Amino acid sequence: MKHIKPRNIRLFAIISLAIIAIIVWTKYLNTDQTPTAAENSRALIGGAFELVNHKGEIVTDKDFLGKYMIVYFGYTYCPDVCPMDLQIMADSLGYLEADEVEQITPVFVTIDPDRDTKEIMAEYVAFFHKDLIGLTGTPEQIDTIKKAYKVYAAKADDTPDYLVDHTAYTYFMGKDGNLLQHFNHGEDPEAMAARMAALID
Ligand code: NI
Repeated sequence: MKHIKPRNIRLFAIISLAIIAIIVWTKYLNTDQTPTAAENSRALIGGAFELVNHKGEIVTDKDFLGKYMIVYFGYTYCPDVCPMDLQIMADSLGYLEADEVEQITPVFVTIDPDRDTKEIMAEYVAFFHKDLIGLTGTPEQIDTIKKAYKVYAAKADDTPDYLVDHTAYTYFMGKDGNLLQHFNHGEDPEAMAARMAALID
């Protein structure tokens, strides 16, 4: 019987592993269907919702398609973070051309529907921008949009004057309802406007 040298066994193992690696690569990894990280995060933000605007009208995600949407999630009793970010949103629109502003719907969604009635929302949004739309709803409806937009919010305490801990992102959504860009708390409004202008077609 012919003796197989250990060196040949090793060579055979290396070649086998290389072939398996090539098969796995071509079959599972190197396909055009593999989404990029940007596409993944875009797909994760946004989705269907039904809410009530500050005029008392029922609106859904479909009503916002065809225009860009800049949207912030917060609550009217928020002492600092929400008013600051809503003012930044309003200021950013001020840096854009009139024809650009016309293409953007600014939206404020409450994450505190128990206190933020449509009347309170109406009073609050008017304070920031004439076009700002306030959205509220039942706790279940608000939960749905929070999940769709990956918004975290939770009551900080059980007093009547409770605060709500919440994420503070501003989302710039495309005409198709997909995320184009997110902005962090305290963003520079002029830089925000420049980014939006670059994304508007
Ligand atoms: Ni807030």
